[in-house]
Amino acid sequence: MADQIDGEGSRRRLGALGVHSLDHFSLTVPDLTQAADFYACFGLEVRPEGNEAGLYAFGSNHRWCLLKEGARKKFGHLTFGIYENDLQAFRDRLKRMNIPLVPAPAGHASNGIWFHDEEGNLIEVAAKAKSSPMEKSVFCEISVPAGVAGAPPRSRAPIVRPRRLSHMALYTADVHRKIKFYVDVLGLRLSDHVGEFAGFLHGPHGSEHHMFAMVKSGGPGFHHSSWDVGSINEIGLGAEQMVTKGYRKGWGLGRHVLGSNYFYYATDPWGSHAEYSADMDYIPADIDWEANDHPAEDTYTLWGTEPPPGFMTNHELT
Ligand SMILES: [Fe+2]
Repeated sequence: MADQIDGEGSRRRLGALGVHSLDHFSLTVPDLTQAADFYACFGLEVRPEGNEAGLYAFGSNHRWCLLKEGARKKFGHLTFGIYENDLQAFRDRLKRMNIPLVPAPAGHASNGIWFHDEEGNLIEVAAKAKSSPMEKSVFCEISVPAGVAGAPPRSRAPIVRPRRLSHMALYTADVHRKIKFYVDVLGLRLSDHVGEFAGFLHGPHGSEHHMFAMVKSGGPGFHHSSWDVGSINEIGLGAEQMVTKGYRKGWGLGRHVLGSNYFYYATDPWGSHAEYSADMDYIPADIDWEANDHPAEDTYTLWGTEPPPGFMTNHELT
């Protein structure tokens, strides 16, 4: 499949109508102050925005997540970025597929197209700059010459600050149905799946192996957000950073099979997770990735421990 360079310097897959980025998402949490502390400890910049809070990578004004306070933890909405000249084609596709549009929720700019997915999750597609990476992110294997100490003392351990949102994952009652919706409507492409248990989707215009993932549960819910860092060392430092601050629950260090990324998941106060991720596979716009159905043994890790009890509990159902 050939690709082309658009006016903004992004590669795009010719003839493909699909989202290019996961621009941001929103999450309702029962205690905004506690959530702000969790994500600040994780290494994100938390900016108060009225009664809400935005999550940013340090040094960037891209808001990846909007946190709101409510009775309980609940997934809010997902905004996908598209090229501006695809807006009408998306409107036409939604009309053709009889997917009703809904008004933007209160407090949100209404210049995007809002609708619900097959399970009732609120989705927006909006013209945005491409925030998914144009190429595989830099990954550092850090070493030092002989005669030099490689590790600093703990007191001088650097603070880990993720560079950007990598992806997010939702629970779903029906993985295949969800894959079909996100492929047919959003134009995402299947990277890999594990039977009816998990699915991983990438963007057609160049993205990591998954910008959006789903795992089987009794119904919808938010499983985790994942944040890109530049080395295995940063993942270890990040895990330590969270444990030191009292967020002791988590899973890792390990390496996933699907996406190949190294990971550590810190569990938030509400039983969902924030993942440090490094060196995920990248799928350029001009590569047709072979999507495979993997056996259950490939679900979690190439190496590392099994996830702890409760890691896959969908608290939005309880
Ligand atoms: Fe992940």
